[in-house]
Amino acid sequence: MASPRFPGADIAARVAACVSLADLRSLAEQAIERTAWDYYRSGAWDEATLAANEERWRRFEIHYRGMVDVSQRSGRTVLFGREIPCPLLAAPTAMQRMAHPDGECATARACGAAGLPMCLSSLSTTALEEVRAATDGPLWMQVYISKDRGFTRSLIERADAAGVEAFAVTCDTPVWGVRDRDMRNGFRVPDGLRIVNLERPGGPTGHAGVGIGGALSWTIDDTLTWRDVEALAGWTKRPVLVKGICRPDDARAAIGSGARGVWISNHGGRQLDGAPATADVLGACAAEARGRAAVVVDGGVRRGTDIVRALALGADAVAVGRPILWGLGAGGELGVRRALDMLRTEFELALALAGVRNCDEIRAL
Ligand SMILES: Cc1cc2nc3c(=O)[nH]c(=O)nc-3n(C[C@H](O)[C@H](O)[C@H](O)COP(=O)(O)O)c2cc1C
Repeated sequence: MASPRFPGADIAARVAACVSLADLRSLAEQAIERTAWDYYRSGAWDEATLAANEERWRRFEIHYRGMVDVSQRSGRTVLFGREIPCPLLAAPTAMQRMAHPDGECATARACGAAGLPMCLSSLSTTALEEVRAATDGPLWMQVYISKDRGFTRSLIERADAAGVEAFAVTCDTPVWGVRDRDMRNGFRVPDGLRIVNLERPGGPTGHAGVGIGGALSWTIDDTLTWRDVEALAGWTKRPVLVKGICRPDDARAAIGSGARGVWISNHGGRQLDGAPATADVLGACAAEARGRAAVVVDGGVRRGTDIVRALALGADAVAVGRPILWGLGAGGELGVRRALDMLRTEFELALALAGVRNCDEIRAL
């Protein structure tokens, strides 16, 4: 389907002309409606953590090896028993149909074509079954533990039955982060879009309310503790990851509560402004988890070299949030394919330039 702002034929050429994620970002900025763009780009309060996420990767130099035969190189890795061609996945981002009418299904198809996992947000604008049907690729789902535990449990069971392969439970959102731009814009879920997976019979639709608070306030809970993660891990046999970890003791607590993955993240700087950049806490958190749980990291990853840095610091895989939305806004499925392809190509080139042939060798850099 054509992007809302660009005619069909134009899109392929415009997307193909992009050489970096920054180019896709510029294209998306022109294509996406202003209040939606502000919602996607924003961090919390002064956006210090948002900025630090991108900046702090660069502080890690890559001390490359010379004179290594890198002709046989591969980024392949195994995550929860699934082989994937590159240690990369799409982070969950809410309301993707604001970026493009094909929304979450376009992301699912693009990830599926690349053989990479997509983590669907529980605040998606497409039903999880529809997204599952759009791809044979690995599909994960992010969940907020709601005040209504019975509802969260039934959502997990429903996703489990549909073939969702892993669950990421978000631990950085006891309350919604505050984003000035959204408040100024009076941001609300646009007419015609629904937070479909969270609709309850007789309950609010998720359409009303300003920001993502209002009608959706029941979907998060400020009383959560590790006991709730433990309970959730008992509701499914699929791997559970805890997303939003920034401290080694929380990584330990997550694993102790039954998580098989720790996801180092600060929600893309959208929750607690002043939280550390993920690049700065990854090493210590990964050391805590090594050998006991898979380590995923996200936040400010914009180049293949950032993926190399993340793996060298102990991650098993890296997730990207906004870059997927940029691809989606710029050109729907085509744009997301381009974003993933750029990151994968850059990563494989960075492997060669660093003098390593695979993910294990990066860890020994
Ligand atoms: C517009 C937007 C919506 C998001 N929605 C969710 C969400 O519904 N659930 C969640 O756990 N994280 C959500 N996140 C956080 C991402 O999963 C991820 O942690 C973050 O985007 C990574 O940083 P990056 O955008 O710099 O790559 C969202 C992020 C953005 C930018």
